[in-house]
Amino acid sequence: AKILVLHGPNLNLLGSREPHIYGHLTLVDINNQLAAQAQAAGHELVWFQSNAEHELVGRIQQARDDGTALILFNPAAFTHTSIALRDALAAVAVPFIEVHLSNVHAREPFRHHSYLSDIAIGVICGFGGDSYRLALEAAIHRLQPAAD
Ligand code: DQA
Repeated sequence: AKILVLHGPNLNLLGSREPHIYGHLTLVDINNQLAAQAQAAGHELVWFQSNAEHELVGRIQQARDDGTALILFNPAAFTHTSIALRDALAAVAVPFIEVHLSNVHAREPFRHHSYLSDIAIGVICGFGGDSYRLALEAAIHRLQPAAD
């Protein structure tokens, strides 16, 4: 199946951006690891990063018609601000997993609330680059036809 990995604002700076919080992996490192992990399980992974809310809304809308089975989404700061991204995800009804590198609950109070978590399949945060790997593992497990 096709899995979309969506990255929000400032994640293009991963590797050099506050590495004590976000680690040393770059976005390319993370995407390459995820692509290999998806391929090994027989899935196709595509990814998109934008610093602009409207571009993320557009990409989510596109996912309704391009065969995307599931989205891994790190909305970055838009997690805490964006009703528009919430509405887009609700509109397309493509299931998604919310991902954060850092443990947002252990940080500033304004990061404790997410506009997306209650409509996500689940949320993984606090494991650095591994948060994405764990989210993809959960996604692959979910996309597997149930064995009986
Ligand atoms: C983040 C956490 C957000 O609070 C922050 O605005 C980010 C990255 C994370 O992956 O830990 O930009 O989503």
